Amino acid sequence: MSSLRLIQGGRAAEGLPGLLVEGAAEIATLAGGLRRGASQDDVAIVGATEGPSAEGGQVIACWEGRVLAIGPRPELEQALEAGGYPLSRFARLDAMGGAVTPGLIDPHTHLLFAGSREAELVLRQRGAGYLEILAAGGGILSTVAATREASVDALEEHGRRWLGEMLAHGTTTIEAKSGYGLDLATELRLLDIAHRLGVAGPIDVLPTWLGAHAVPAEFRSRPEGAEAYVRHCLDEQLPGVAAQGRARFADVFCEAGVFTPDQSRRILEAAARLGLQPRLHADEIAPSGGAELAVEVGALSADHLAAPSTAGIDALANAAESDHPVVATLLPATTWFLMHDDFAPARTFIERGVPVALATDFNPGTSPTTSLPFVMTVACLELKLTPSEALAAVTINAAHALGRGDEIGSLEPGKVADLVVWRVPTHRQIPYWPAADLVRTVVKAGRVVLERAPA
Ligand code: NIG
Ligand code: FE
Repeated sequence: MSSLRLIQGGRAAEGLPGLLVEGAAEIATLAGGLRRGASQDDVAIVGATEGPSAEGGQVIACWEGRVLAIGPRPELEQALEAGGYPLSRFARLDAMGGAVTPGLIDPHTHLLFAGSREAELVLRQRGAGYLEILAAGGGILSTVAATREASVDALEEHGRRWLGEMLAHGTTTIEAKSGYGLDLATELRLLDIAHRLGVAGPIDVLPTWLGAHAVPAEFRSRPEGAEAYVRHCLDEQLPGVAAQGRARFADVFCEAGVFTPDQSRRILEAAARLGLQPRLHADEIAPSGGAELAVEVGALSADHLAAPSTAGIDALANAAESDHPVVATLLPATTWFLMHDDFAPARTFIERGVPVALATDFNPGTSPTTSLPFVMTVACLELKLTPSEALAAVTINAAHALGRGDEIGSLEPGKVADLVVWRVPTHRQIPYWPAADLVRTVVKAGRVVLERAPA
């Protein structure tokens, strides 16, 4: 981190509209759309050359923030000149024999919260269950108490800090959930901060309303408290969130002891009517009907899925054959950090043709990590994904999990020029060096936003 330099606003390629990325040992373009089944393992590599030849190799040409073309240097340079893109209008970025991939996309984070919960780690070591801690008023609820107290400045500063960490690990777009307010004012505050952090950049932030993350303390004491809180979500929070216009998605923690499938359905259907696309915390701890519900409401993504039922897996497999596949967004760092034995059945999903994405689930209770490369490592070791499947999961499939598959997630002409130059020659080494700092340069919309200072 210390040797990485954040370039405020991005280096505008020396004031030039174009950027040529050259000298890559490998470019994993991820071209070709959503991955599922056997294609999840295909990262569409171009230009694996013998080495970082300054004369040859494949070059990525970016223009005004978008990918213009990728091709072998001589042909590409000729075509650019002939096509009205003079080479003098391009800055050059030397990948120095590193691999180049699309910018990583984190489709499930709880970016904004106050405080920390290291005490729970020790409670869980001693045998306490995650949902047991929540039922006793701790867990999510202790973060809610701290977050309600926090100032806008403190939350913003926290957001900037952790976004900086994400960028240093190669992330260029994230989804960020609210869900630590659980009252209208605090939920709106979190959504607004997430939105503003995204506008400030360089990471794009897509806000999700997660008002139904837990039943807050003031409703628990009431009879039928959960039901009363669901009605509060429907009658107060949702209209307020829709009127504010910051959230793009709605999410619910559908799990035994939190929200039932029926409550989750009512919230997600009402949200969809107000233009918020559904996504879902589904079957994180035990089969809870979450995967089935995600398909039923046409969610973009069903997340966690560490414990789906057979019917839930069948539902996702059927949806994968339809025009509306639901992406299985798996969060293996959470299972690992909770010290649970049962990881999501990722190989079954891939065999059944279900598209798989990965995310950090960054949050103070179950996954305090911002590193997608680290999540890729856990996915390879515990979910048995190949390194290529894991890369597809944090790029093109993660883009589809956010409904942005046409804009980001692959390096193809016309798409946003978000890319990472790695300090390893092949994407297969990204999960292979656990917890290492592997990022050399990050380009966001054609601008260099982070670079490792020369040694
Ligand atoms: O995805 N399980 C629900 N939400 C988060 C954890 C939030 C927390 O513990 O603070 C998750 O695991
Ligand atoms: Fe989560």
